[in-house]
Amino acid sequence: MASDRVYNFSAGPSMLPIEVLEQAKAEITNFGGSGTSVMEMSHRSKAFISIFEETKANMRRMLNVPETHEILFLQGGGTLQFAMAPMNLIPRTGKADYCLTGNFANLAFKEAKKYGDISVAASSEDRKFAYIPPQSELKIREDASYLYYCSNNTIEGTEWKYVPDSPAPLVCDMSSNILTQPIDFPKYDVVFAGAQKNMAPAGLTVVFVNKACAGRAFPFTPVMLDYAAMIKGDSMHNTPPCWPIYILGLVLKWMDTLGGLEGMQKIKASKAKVLYDAIDSSSLFKGCADKEARSDMNVTFSTGSEELDKKFVKEAEAEGFVNVGGHRSVGGMRASIYNAMPIEGVRALADFMREFERARV
Ligand SMILES: Cc1ncc(COP(=O)(O)O)c(C=O)c1O
Repeated sequence: MASDRVYNFSAGPSMLPIEVLEQAKAEITNFGGSGTSVMEMSHRSKAFISIFEETKANMRRMLNVPETHEILFLQGGGTLQFAMAPMNLIPRTGKADYCLTGNFANLAFKEAKKYGDISVAASSEDRKFAYIPPQSELKIREDASYLYYCSNNTIEGTEWKYVPDSPAPLVCDMSSNILTQPIDFPKYDVVFAGAQKNMAPAGLTVVFVNKACAGRAFPFTPVMLDYAAMIKGDSMHNTPPCWPIYILGLVLKWMDTLGGLEGMQKIKASKAKVLYDAIDSSSLFKGCADKEARSDMNVTFSTGSEELDKKFVKEAEAEGFVNVGGHRSVGGMRASIYNAMPIEGVRALADFMREFERARV
């Protein structure tokens, strides 16, 4: 870690691998001898098309995306997908079912209600979203157009440990745990993820869509929200987010140096264990999520005292651990440990937690 860098535990936008930042820096004014920056290139130029094709192919290889599914590089963040999915998929039966396991799933539910008969398949709101409902509690209608869930709840720090078994195809928001585990694509009509946590800078949303879903959107759907138009234009119906696509390409190559998806899966499990062990062996800090639902990406914890939590966040920042405050809606602490967070940063934070506790007993 460069001495002028801090360990940034932000939930998004988040750390990018230092190797990626250094390469982007080296190429920023002259990419590959072209004499221009990727930021200045036409998206139709040979140089950019080659970046685009390589990034898309590497994403397909990394996640083993079958040819049945298209990979789209769009804009509008995860939030625009809350509208894009229902606008394209609900016309099938007019109905969809949603699992409410946190803030972002709730926002998606609210948005979908504008477009059809939307029902709650399950909710964990009764205990402040501290758990993930089990399969046996999911109420999925036979004629739902899809079942929606958010695989990792960024604010609450919970993660689905199973893929819902559903008569309807799945639609999943994987914004905060994409590229950390394999995805069983045949079960999903749509998987989407904002790039700014595990993939690239903000401005890019990666959408994996079953091509069979194209062409069924409501007639009032704006062209930019129509899967068919985006597939037809290969994400270039208009100017795509060129720079984040380029960085995503570098991130995928960086992942290869660490063993690809399998490597990332092992690394994230060991990083999460370091922090959860620190929490479980502490008499000061308590985890916010139920143990069996704990997220490997967003570790939420608290001392139980608002004042002490604030003190921890402030002292942590002074030591170079930034953005460990919980989301403004829930308070406490949250350490987001996405792929680019080095294990040294996680170990150093765990040491700091122990020191903070020792100073108080
Ligand atoms: C799981 C999840 N979904 C959706 C969003 C919203 O994403 P965006 O800000 O890209 O619209 C976030 C943002 O943090 C998120 O964590």
